[in-house]
Amino acid sequence: MAAYIVEDSRKVTTHRLIEMKRQGKKIAMLTAYDYTMASIFDGAGLDVILVGDSASNVMAGNYTTLPITVDEMIYHARSVVRATNRALVVCDMPFGSYQVNATEGVTNAIRIMKETGCDAVKLEGGEEIIETIRAILAAGIPVCGHLGLTPQSINKFGTYAVRAKEQAEADKLLSDARLLQEAGCFAVVLEKIPAKLCAKVCSELSIPVIGIGAGQADGQVLVAQDMLGMTKGFSPKFLRRYADLGSVMTDAIGNYVADVKAGDFPNSSEEY
Ligand code: KIV
Repeated sequence: MAAYIVEDSRKVTTHRLIEMKRQGKKIAMLTAYDYTMASIFDGAGLDVILVGDSASNVMAGNYTTLPITVDEMIYHARSVVRATNRALVVCDMPFGSYQVNATEGVTNAIRIMKETGCDAVKLEGGEEIIETIRAILAAGIPVCGHLGLTPQSINKFGTYAVRAKEQAEADKLLSDARLLQEAGCFAVVLEKIPAKLCAKVCSELSIPVIGIGAGQADGQVLVAQDMLGMTKGFSPKFLRRYADLGSVMTDAIGNYVADVKAGDFPNSSEEY
């Protein structure tokens, strides 16, 4: 018997997420980058599917999220949108697609919306990119913010350690979160920050705060391959593994290899 409950099978909208926060209903979000996974996730009752630029690491094997391109994000997001009926689909704007100026940001956001059919975009940063966020919103495109550990800035941070432990950085994060809400963002992701700071942002904002490594929030997001146990060598404290698909797949493939080599696959009932 499945443990999940879908109370409302209508398509999730940005408005409904804000309403969920108002009603104290938690929001469940995971990443997906392809059709097969997205169709399973959508059927399992996720509220939001994030086509994260973590596809750069998870799908392409890059060390950071920086190399992934707008074209590659469009390919992933289009595949996810095709599989999704209920969940809201948010596509990350990749590094370099919105940092130069507002015009480039809007042009790329429009491309992503037009060519994928996704519902919203996500950008990393606060005050530094607020003009671009305003311009994208003015074009009618819903925007999700992302503060705290923003992986596109890893070369500036120099480490994936917890952010905003110092007062000055915590103050800036809170003021950036307010700025994103005032600009019209429908949600903000807070990554790897102290739980107390996340709780403060949640209580100050009326838009949902989605946490990853940030303790309790209005919702949670994880990278699907991490929580499904498909990635090796990544086990931060915040990651709860819900399955060990890596072992299940290794066993299955090992059995297939053995069967093929033994001449046991296919057998007579598996041929025409
Ligand atoms: O790209 C991504 O997967 C993300 C999540 C970690 C929030 O931005």
